[in-house]
Amino acid sequence: MNKLIILASGSGSNAIKIIEYFENQDDTTVSAVLTDNRHAGVLDKCKALNIPTLYFSAALFRSPAFIDLLNSFGPDLIILAGFLKKIPSEVIAEYPDRIVNIHPSLLPKYGGKGMYGAHVHHAVKENNEPESGISIHYVNEHYDQGQIIAQFKVALDSQDNAEQIAKKVQQLEHLHFAPTIATLLKNNE
Ligand code: GAR
Repeated sequence: MNKLIILASGSGSNAIKIIEYFENQDDTTVSAVLTDNRHAGVLDKCKALNIPTLYFSAALFRSPAFIDLLNSFGPDLIILAGFLKKIPSEVIAEYPDRIVNIHPSLLPKYGGKGMYGAHVHHAVKENNEPESGISIHYVNEHYDQGQIIAQFKVALDSQDNAEQIAKKVQQLEHLHFAPTIATLLKNNE
């Protein structure tokens, strides 16, 4: 049985899509959703789906105990689904090529510190980009610079505002994130 844990800081729509996707696959389970935000919307959503959740403090996140916490789940992959903190290098060293992030742009464009959520879509709009998309990538020590696993694109209309771009990009995330994880697990077998 493949085990996933998900780290999420916000509403958790991607986390929920992943949970729902793997509920229908008997070779993979989402063991828990971990969050650094006590008020994250994802917490209530997981409760409704009977998925264990766990809040961790910023102090714990930066301590060796965080690695112990991750290890206690024995995860095959750690999935970042809207998790905004930079992963400490000790954690990356413990889980090389086993931490996967989703980013709402076609990296290397619109990545890096401060580039998350709506900030990304506003920047895309400002530059009149003809397309945007998503990048699913391994996590390394630098924000949004780990090896890309898969990218998916969507055409933008010059009339699209940042909210409409966000919606188009979110549709891609919800469609592709979970199947890409499934493929990754299969390839790692
Ligand atoms: C997603 O769009 C994800 O790509 C983005 O946060 C959103 C989380 O939404 N992540 C980043 O910007 C990371 N740099 P969700 O909480 O509804 O899944």
